[in-house]
Amino acid sequence: MLKEKLGQAIDQRKAKIGVIGLGYVGLPLIVEFCLKGFDGIGFEVDENKAKQVNEGISYIVDVPSENLNKCVEAGHLVATTDFSRLTECDVIVICVPTPLRKTKDPDMSFILSAGEEIQKYMRKGQLVLLESTTYPGTTDEVLLPMLEAKGFKLDEDFLLGFSPERVDPGNPQFQTHNITKVVGGVSSASTEVAAKLYGTIVDSVHPVSSARVAEACKLWENTFRAINIGMANEMARLCNALGIDTWEVVRAAATKPFGFMPFYPGPGIGGHCIPLDPHYLSWKARQHGFDSQFISLAEQVNSSMPRYVAGLVRDALNEKEKSVKGANILILGVAYKKDIDDMRESPALSIIDLLRSRGANVYYHDPFVPEVTFDHSYTIGDGEPLFSRELTDELIRETDCVVICTDHTDVDYGRVCDISSLIVDTRNALSEDFRKQSSATIIRL
Ligand SMILES: NC(=O)c1ccc[n+]([C@@H]2O[C@H](COP(=O)([O-])OP(=O)(O)OC[C@H]3O[C@@H](n4cnc5c(N)ncnc54)[C@H](O)[C@@H]3O)[C@@H](O)[C@H]2O)c1
Repeated sequence: MLKEKLGQAIDQRKAKIGVIGLGYVGLPLIVEFCLKGFDGIGFEVDENKAKQVNEGISYIVDVPSENLNKCVEAGHLVATTDFSRLTECDVIVICVPTPLRKTKDPDMSFILSAGEEIQKYMRKGQLVLLESTTYPGTTDEVLLPMLEAKGFKLDEDFLLGFSPERVDPGNPQFQTHNITKVVGGVSSASTEVAAKLYGTIVDSVHPVSSARVAEACKLWENTFRAINIGMANEMARLCNALGIDTWEVVRAAATKPFGFMPFYPGPGIGGHCIPLDPHYLSWKARQHGFDSQFISLAEQVNSSMPRYVAGLVRDALNEKEKSVKGANILILGVAYKKDIDDMRESPALSIIDLLRSRGANVYYHDPFVPEVTFDHSYTIGDGEPLFSRELTDELIRETDCVVICTDHTDVDYGRVCDISSLIVDTRNALSEDFRKQSSATIIRL
């Protein structure tokens, strides 16, 4: 039987693992499998990424080139743009992007295109797993019919399931191996084999009764974050209106050992997950006549934060009898969160765009991001690309307002406090000591 055969191949590390999409999710995953003794083939549409993988060069912060190189040199890992090699794999894991269309509806084109390649090259005896975040029902409603259209039968000829990826890029404490893996198959045999497979690379696997439960679990988790960040952002604005220190309040509330979990305000939300995933859930809910109001409200609050921050900059400059127009504004940190290079959906881009549209001269420093480009269909400012500037004393001195958008660790905030005249800190990056010693006007969220 297929279940036993694949199970045995996994136990003996003889199952060949194919991963489609070698990005933030797919590359760490395939490297983890290869480090555990499996052979892996990474499938990419981006020739340059495939080439770098084959040269042992990592382009993902959480994957040290040393580990990648070890897998490549030992002959355990190869990357290719040739999808006919899917036939060689016993397991195929899909890790392609799931963006939104401009209308905020799910863009399923990447999953569909990966599904079409699998349909073309699949053979009997394979386990197919989807890891891309998507709405509940995708594995059953989209992938299953594609694989069955080939005349193959579930459980007899192939197994199919969903396992959400929970990796948090840049998080040194939690990485693939110590994050529990939720697994839901479209059949119980699929769940069992998928759980066995993931059990080889993670400390703990949590099987659920269906792919839909696993899909919904991921969206629940990320919607929880989006809503709680939305609440933190609203509380920050409320505290600001009442003249209370937001950060002191949240620090105090976090001392409660139960019933409270701290979330922090910021300039908005970014990355490929939190701003997008809740829309996958609300889109599916709408198809069933359900209006998810929490999701809409969180979206409204979070997406208004860049405008709020631009307003803080305008008001702070005004106090100094300066206008935004013509002001030199230094954005400190443009990545969507600290210590990574990911710019996707970063609120810093909106803040730069808003300030430029009002005539400010905006430049930035980010140790992780050498260049930023702007999507012209969204910009209201000039949309010119920007390059990270060195954080010199002269640069800080000629700046009218420093805006801390990302609290990267590797920035000398003491020096920024010493030299600046005006700082808007959206991340509470400046310690109390720095603030006390500084003669700058410091505005915090
Ligand atoms: N980045 C995260 O922190 C994170 C965390 C959890 C879940 N996810 C989810 O995982 C999925 C992948 O996200 P990511 O951040 O790794 O995206 P990514 O853009 O970093 O990587 C996706 C890769 O897939 C490749 N690709 C696109 N279409 C392809 C195709 N048809 N065949 C082969 N390769 C293809 C792209 O070239 C890219 O390298 C998304 O659904 C995302 O929501 C991401």
